Amino acid sequence: MIATNFKIEIDEKRAEGILKEIARDKMSGWLNLPRRYDMGEFARIKEAAQKIQEESEYLVCIGIGGSYLGHRAIIEALRPKSGTKIIYAGNSLSRRELERALSEVGDADFSINVISKSGTTLEPAIAFEAFKKKLFEKYGEEEGKSRIYATTDAKVGTLHDEAVRNGYARFVVPDNIGGRYSVLTAVGLLPMAVAGVDIDKLLEGAAEAVESAVRPAVEYATMRHSLGTKGYDTEVFASFEPATMFFNEWLKQLFGESEGKNKQGIFPAAVIYSTDLHSMGQFMQDGRRNLFETIIDYPTDEMNAKVVQAVKIAHMQGGIPVLTITPSSYDEKGFGELVYFFELTCAISAKMFGVNPFDQPGVEAYKNELKKLMGEK
Ligand code: PA5
Repeated sequence: MIATNFKIEIDEKRAEGILKEIARDKMSGWLNLPRRYDMGEFARIKEAAQKIQEESEYLVCIGIGGSYLGHRAIIEALRPKSGTKIIYAGNSLSRRELERALSEVGDADFSINVISKSGTTLEPAIAFEAFKKKLFEKYGEEEGKSRIYATTDAKVGTLHDEAVRNGYARFVVPDNIGGRYSVLTAVGLLPMAVAGVDIDKLLEGAAEAVESAVRPAVEYATMRHSLGTKGYDTEVFASFEPATMFFNEWLKQLFGESEGKNKQGIFPAAVIYSTDLHSMGQFMQDGRRNLFETIIDYPTDEMNAKVVQAVKIAHMQGGIPVLTITPSSYDEKGFGELVYFFELTCAISAKMFGVNPFDQPGVEAYKNELKKLMGEK
């Protein structure tokens, strides 16, 4: 699955220790999940997806950060033809964006999937109020409530309490899985199933990766750490498939939020080639040499493959360490595998930098400041 263009020595003992630490961590619920998925919940997700597909032209997915990037990444990469259209809201505080999303739905039939682990994040809460108003005006309260799907904590939070009070269909973000590691839980599986992604195949790919991704993840994490300690403080994820732009966004979030702590970590950036060769290409070739490039070499057509080759040669000549990750296929199975591989790499890599891969105190800091500025209401 993973190929690289330089050799690295792995400290086997340290790697083994880190893997054990990750397995013991109380936030490592994602580690074995693809192999132990609760099939009762899986069936409920599929049933809900079918109901939404039958009664709605649009599913409005409301969430931010880990509560939307992962599933958007896969839905946009695969662009399934058979499913319901997804509209995203609640991932900024822009009034303009919210109004655009409301008018995109227009008079069409729609349902809402509101996703927030904490159930208290401001951006989704505001979008949810606006879309709920539209839903109740269109269908009345009773039918409106039957079109709301809340994915949140099992026991606590404003969203949880509202969902219980009003009888919304509920799905759970497990306690032991944080936002950016939740793609393969109900957080991602429900919207993906509604959009027409084959979630059986996706989990199958991830389940296979539980074993097959361990070695490449250790290698990749070791390479990142080694480069990071030699002054390469920026990693540029490069893809040659424009539809994977949101996969890049999820990668930036995964690595940025997991690793950027205690003045540590590698700054994650991303480009789409060949488009960005005409904007960032100059810097990549000849700019400040503090970066390395990780090419995600999705199976592609012959012409695109030639550009991949050309870029690798040119950038290596330009003095950039170039790593290549080769996913096994551009489909659900391949993305299931890839998601798991990056999650594991990221957890190992953060541990190598000596930080906790699973918290995000910096994100909480801005949430608290915003709450103070806006008042608890
Ligand atoms: O990865 C994370 O944990 C974060 O990006 C969260 O997903 C994001 O802050 C949204 O939080 P919540 O799902 O509680 O609304």
